[in-house]
Amino acid sequence: MFRCLLFLFSLCLFSLITASSIRTACHDSERSALLQFKKSFLIHESASYEPSAYPKARRWKLDKNGNGGCCAWDGVECDNNTGHVIGLDLSSSFLYGSIDSNSSLFQLLHLRRLNLPDNDFNGSKIPSAIGNLSRLSHLDISFSAFSGQLPSQVLKLSKLVLLDLSGNELELQRPGLRNFVEKLTNLKELNLNGVHISSTIPQNLGNLSSLTSLSLSNCSLQGPIPASIGELTKLKHLGLSHNQFSGQIPSSLANLTQLTYLSLSFNSFSPGTLSWLGKQTQLNVLYVEQANLYGEIPSSLANLTQLTDLSLVGNQLFGQIPPPLENLRQLTFLSLDSNQLMGPIPFWLGNLTRLTVLDLGQNKLQGQVPKSIFNLVNLIVLCLNSNDLNGTLIFESFLNLKNLTDLQLSDNNLSVLTNITINGTVPKFRNLELASCNLLEFPNFLHEQDDLLILNLSGNKIHGQIPKWVWDMSKESLSFLYLAGNFLTGFDKPIFPMTNLRLLDLGNNSLQGSIPIPPPSIIIYNVASNSLTGEFTPLLCNLPSLAYLGLSHNNLSGTLPQCLANLSESLLALNLRRNNFVGSIPKLCTKGSELRMIDFNQNLFVGQLPRSLANCVRVENLNMGNNQLNDTFPFWLGKLPELKILIVRRNQFHGTIQEQRGISEFPKLQIIDLSFNRFTGKLPSQQFQNWIAMKVVDAANLSYLHANSDVKTQNFNVTTVFLYSVTLTSKGTERDYEKIQDFLVAIDFSSNSFDGCIPENIGNLKALRLLNLSNNALSCRIPPSLGNLSNLESLDLSHNDLSGEIPKELLQLTFLGFFNVSDNNLTGQIPQGKQFATFENKSFGSNPGLCGKPLSKTCTMFQVSPPPLSSEEDDSQEPLVEFDWKIILIGFGGGLLNGLAIGYMYTPLWFRTYLRRMQRK
Ligand SMILES: *[C@@H]1O[C@H](CO)[C@@H](O)[C@H](O)[C@H]1NC(C)=O
Ligand SMILES: *[C@@H]1O[C@H](CO)[C@@H](O)[C@H](O)[C@H]1NC(C)=O
Ligand SMILES: *[C@@H]1O[C@H](CO)[C@@H](O)[C@H](O)[C@H]1NC(C)=O
Ligand SMILES: *[C@@H]1O[C@H](CO)[C@@H](O)[C@H](O)[C@H]1NC(C)=O
Ligand SMILES: *[C@@H]1O[C@H](CO)[C@@H](O)[C@H](O)[C@H]1NC(C)=O
Ligand SMILES: *[C@@H]1O[C@H](CO)[C@@H](O)[C@H](O)[C@H]1NC(C)=O
Ligand SMILES: *[C@@H]1O[C@H](CO)[C@@H](O)[C@H](O)[C@H]1NC(C)=O
Repeated sequence: MFRCLLFLFSLCLFSLITASSIRTACHDSERSALLQFKKSFLIHESASYEPSAYPKARRWKLDKNGNGGCCAWDGVECDNNTGHVIGLDLSSSFLYGSIDSNSSLFQLLHLRRLNLPDNDFNGSKIPSAIGNLSRLSHLDISFSAFSGQLPSQVLKLSKLVLLDLSGNELELQRPGLRNFVEKLTNLKELNLNGVHISSTIPQNLGNLSSLTSLSLSNCSLQGPIPASIGELTKLKHLGLSHNQFSGQIPSSLANLTQLTYLSLSFNSFSPGTLSWLGKQTQLNVLYVEQANLYGEIPSSLANLTQLTDLSLVGNQLFGQIPPPLENLRQLTFLSLDSNQLMGPIPFWLGNLTRLTVLDLGQNKLQGQVPKSIFNLVNLIVLCLNSNDLNGTLIFESFLNLKNLTDLQLSDNNLSVLTNITINGTVPKFRNLELASCNLLEFPNFLHEQDDLLILNLSGNKIHGQIPKWVWDMSKESLSFLYLAGNFLTGFDKPIFPMTNLRLLDLGNNSLQGSIPIPPPSIIIYNVASNSLTGEFTPLLCNLPSLAYLGLSHNNLSGTLPQCLANLSESLLALNLRRNNFVGSIPKLCTKGSELRMIDFNQNLFVGQLPRSLANCVRVENLNMGNNQLNDTFPFWLGKLPELKILIVRRNQFHGTIQEQRGISEFPKLQIIDLSFNRFTGKLPSQQFQNWIAMKVVDAANLSYLHANSDVKTQNFNVTTVFLYSVTLTSKGTERDYEKIQDFLVAIDFSSNSFDGCIPENIGNLKALRLLNLSNNALSCRIPPSLGNLSNLESLDLSHNDLSGEIPKELLQLTFLGFFNVSDNNLTGQIPQGKQFATFENKSFGSNPGLCGKPLSKTCTMFQVSPPPLSSEEDDSQEPLVEFDWKIILIGFGGGLLNGLAIGYMYTPLWFRTYLRRMQRK
């Protein structure tokens, strides 16, 4: 009420002032042009976003004489002497509708200032009649739903001082940025954020020597930033983020000493430093995120004493946080997340008392959390997660930080003591991450938390039943709950009253009883690696948004319900690995499907693979191994465009795998495991031709095979990564690959009844790392083409009827760490030297005709063809290659729990949005 009165009062005041200052009459033609312009739009509240928006033109009208002092209308400005309309400001005015060259707007030929931001012009092109308004000095049409290429007539507006086209779907190609720079030389402020330019920045940029503000973010700009940018010495604001710039950040930026704002984030610069910074003593905001910075943070940053925002997220910065930065007393936002910073968290950080965001997560910081941090009473966000911090933190210390809503301490070596008596009020958290913090109980203070969005208590030492109150805490807000990797046994109350729960991770605990049913809002649900029993209840089929269902490694039994077919419409990944499910596999993907992963490995399924699997068009990982399936080779899966992993090991598959008719392609197949079945016939040389993904070595991409799921809530987007895992035979033993390197390529056809020769063209599958053809009835010689498989790490041909010599081409396999040809009819001399010097007797046993090292049987002249001339030398050589393949293969274990990972970091733009939303709330 009070507020309303105040508002009215200020309106009165406003009209008093304007009425007294407007004496001049309004030209009839301009008045009618204005009215016509107003009439050409609908007033629509959804057309403007700004909270301050209102329909400025609503009260424009003629008086009873048919006149009207349009100069007094809201948003209209006239020249005091001539009475011509020289300014029109209809920003945030709920205007909705199209605009074209016929618009009466273009009759206002005296316009100098035109402001139309934050309306909805419905995808209109900028009309070419804009060229009529040649007196324009200010043109702002930002965020107003214009689209298309800018007309060349814009170049006629040579008096422009301010041009803001940001936040539209505009293109600036013909004419392009170069033409702008040539013609609009009076510009002081140019904002083209989001305009699709996709060219380089022209060299003649220096022409715009009056510029004080240049915004070219998200414009698809390429190539190097020209050094001439250093000629724009009046620049205060320079935004170049989110482009595809290459080359170095130009050191000529050093000359821009007036800068107050500089953003270079999210570009693909060549590795570089910020050593050119230091003279920009006016700088308030510096964002250089994901811009390939390396080296130490330069101490010269300490010169920038006016900095309020500093973000260097996601670079390769190393070394310590330099002490001179203590000078930056104005800092409110400091984010150095995701670098390689080392050393302690500096004590002096506690002197930067204006900080609201301090994000040092995902570095290599060591030592204890300094007490001085608790002086930062304005902190809203404190992220210290994923470092090497140690020591004990008493939770009470955080009570000082009354505005703290986001606290991330996960994944250090910290012990956080939460359950000593806390005197005082605990801040209300939105995001609380205390994974691997040595907690022994659910922290008591959670009782009072009613606004949590994310709670992560994974990897602690919490034992026993989950108390009832845990489910009542923040029950309307909590969206992500991570409790994996504790010693939880069950629930006091097996229902979830939470209405917004999107992700629940209870994996790696000791839960007993039947599968707990999550609330309908759930998207990602993981209860893998527990001791759950009972059946797959059809209630799970009723979860409308379920994308990930992880039930693996439990003692679940019974048959799967047919309703799973419905579930597979929303489901991305279904993991039932290692349970005791029986019966046949239900028809999945009957109605289209998003499924990327179907892992039914190690159950007791019988019968055939349902043919509906051929509809799982997005499936990448199909694992049906270790069941009792009785089927022929699924050629009919060969058209699946994404299938990377196909595993049917240890079943009762039979028949040949040589395709008779039709073509199956398996274009992306990289792991195929048919071992321990009853396949017969020849190896499929025809198929080998088709397996394209096995021919291309791509080791550049050092990540793991996975599927992603993005969960969006109002404030957070959380990407969850599901890493695929498989059990494969490698180096003669079965092993679990908890993560699979992107480049792992494997064929395992072992323990079947294949016969005939090994096809020569298997040597074309150059990306192969594991090849296992053991325990079959293969005959003929070992094809020398195997020597082309230069990435091969494990080769097992044992227990066959192979004859002839071991081809010396195999000496080229410099990564070969495991080799077994025992139990064949091979003859002649074992190749000597290189990797072969590392293989033991058992690699060659039970081949009566073989001789030479490591066997004790020496080769006589009559048995062998003469060894290659170089063999004497080779014999004495050390193995050329260190066994780095071991690192590649064993580089897993621990780390991610159940392949579920969470990751986000604070970047300024994102944080602003987050804060705004919170404030509105
Ligand atoms: C907005 O554009 C759409 C599609 O071009 C058109 O159908 C609709 O009539 C336009 N609305 C207005 C108010 O101009
Ligand atoms: C502009 O008006 C003229 C005449 O009134 C008409 O012929 C033409 O189609 C109009 N153009 C547009 C783009 O509406
Ligand atoms: C900075 O400006 C000075 C004077 O205009 C010029 O001589 C110098 O080359 C510029 N430095 C860089 C790095 O561009
Ligand atoms: C930092 O400021 C000092 C003193 O104003 C000045 O001498 C020095 O050159 C500046 N450093 C850099 C890198 O510009
Ligand atoms: C910085 O903080 C430390 C303790 O946190 C204090 O002793 C020192 O006086 C502070 N320095 C300044 C300049 O405030
Ligand atoms: C915390 O937030 C409130 C409200 O935004 C603000 O008034 C206050 O100054 C902030 N700082 C502290 C230390 O409470
Ligand atoms: C597998 O199925 C075939 C028919 O397709 C049948 O003849 C055979 O007995 C089955 N084998 C087993 C072990 O069930």
